[in-house]
Amino acid sequence: MTLRVRVPATSANLGPGFDAFAVALPLLAEFELRPARAWKVDAADGVPDGEDNLLVVAARAVARAAGAELAAQHVEQRSAIPLARGLGSSAAAIVGGAVAANALLGEPLDRRSLLRVASEVEGHSDNVAAALYGGFTIALPDEAGPVAARIAFPADWRACLFIPGEPLETAKARGVLAAEVSRDDAVFNLAHAAALVAAIMRADGALLSLAMADRLHQPARTRLVPALGEIIGAARDAGAFGAALSGAGPSVLAVAPARLAARVVSAMEETAAAHGVGGRGRALRVRAAGAQAVKA
Ligand code: HSE
Repeated sequence: MTLRVRVPATSANLGPGFDAFAVALPLLAEFELRPARAWKVDAADGVPDGEDNLLVVAARAVARAAGAELAAQHVEQRSAIPLARGLGSSAAAIVGGAVAANALLGEPLDRRSLLRVASEVEGHSDNVAAALYGGFTIALPDEAGPVAARIAFPADWRACLFIPGEPLETAKARGVLAAEVSRDDAVFNLAHAAALVAAIMRADGALLSLAMADRLHQPARTRLVPALGEIIGAARDAGAFGAALSGAGPSVLAVAPARLAARVVSAMEETAAAHGVGGRGRALRVRAAGAQAVKA
């Protein structure tokens, strides 16, 4: 039996929702699993291909949580998600492994349990929540494991990405963050995060343009991402409601009305090039569907 799993890319934070917000994007990681003697993943260069591959780690964690034995698999993968660009490639592998194991074992875990296991492997819940549920998600920490609240994204808004050619490792981008924040900054972020959710629920672009601002992570990361402020400024000048670092970076996510999306993408590309930053832009719909597994 072959199992096919598809998992979307994700863009986390959206500015103020550090480790809490993410959207699913239609850049897919696709995995094909077949029973094998030992785990083997046809992985990209530099990515472990055996039992320490994130897909395998997550699959085995699901089996442990279900108290079940999982047979080893050979995994072929095709991924449109660029690595180490702040677009959830590790979350896609983890969610792919979790969903695959659950399907192979006869669905012993519900989606919230899969979110808990995947979050434990990833270390934070935002990307894995959107990869599992699709749409826009709020990952809410809870003593019994994270909960995801999913909200549909406005149909005539687009996610405009600028994806730099140079990668940035998430661990490095988390390493520059302060351990503590001031009360002013905490209040700033909670107000902006709440406004961002209201903007999405009401499809209110004017409110989104105020809400997509952050003081918890983006200022510290700015020095790791060349021309970040200029690219965000160019997106806004071209008509985006707002723009922010995508996840831990270095990609930039702008949210724009569909009719201005191409202009926003060009403006980000041109501004990046003018500052010597190579890369390319994409205008995408937010993907409504999360991870899917199909037995063939
Ligand atoms: N919320 C995480 C961060 C996303 O900003 O570090 C990393 O993929």
